Amino acid sequence: MDTYKTITSLRSVRQFDNAHPISDDALHHILQAGRMSGSSKNTQPWWFIAITDRETLTALSKCGDFAQHLAGAALAVAIVFDPTFYRGEFDSGRAAQNMMLAAWNDGIGSCIASMHREDAAKAALSVPTEYRLQHIISFGYPRNADQSIPAVKRQGRKPLAEIVLREKWGQK
Ligand SMILES: Cc1cc2nc3c(=O)[nH]c(=O)nc-3n(C[C@H](O)[C@H](O)[C@H](O)COP(=O)(O)O)c2cc1C
Repeated sequence: MDTYKTITSLRSVRQFDNAHPISDDALHHILQAGRMSGSSKNTQPWWFIAITDRETLTALSKCGDFAQHLAGAALAVAIVFDPTFYRGEFDSGRAAQNMMLAAWNDGIGSCIASMHREDAAKAALSVPTEYRLQHIISFGYPRNADQSIPAVKRQGRKPLAEIVLREKWGQK
């Protein structure tokens, strides 16, 4: 896929084909895309925990209100960041998007899971309490066309005319 097509066609996938595991090469590709992400002052304030153990995935799926898709993922990557680093949250978002795009370019779908019960998620992965674990990403080959969970309906996008301003606020 060309880069623009990969970016614009990326949509959340929440149901995965478990007969089709993610190879070590594909996993390496995903993690490498996260590693190469830019970060504020190049602090790279993140760790990526790659998870394939079904019991752990199921436990993590209970740590977020809309995290059920983790239970059926072929792979999940938890993004842990050090909050004492400047802009750690923004940096982690860049790494997350890069991993999702690299995966999609290889035909692998993904979806973010917010950890509403972060402490429980950190305990499940033995993450030190001083670090943050806000999001975990499910990965896997799509089972079929996306069937979003009811509370998080598949969204279109606002038109550019609604979100783009010229030169300053209030000017279209
Ligand atoms: C910060 C963030 C948190 C999200 N948390 C969840 C989540 O907990 N569960 C979920 O199913 N989707 C989650 N999503 C995915 C969004 O719901 C999804 O990207 C959005 O509805 C647009 O749909 P699309 O990705 O299919 O285009 C999250 C996305 C972001 C950026």
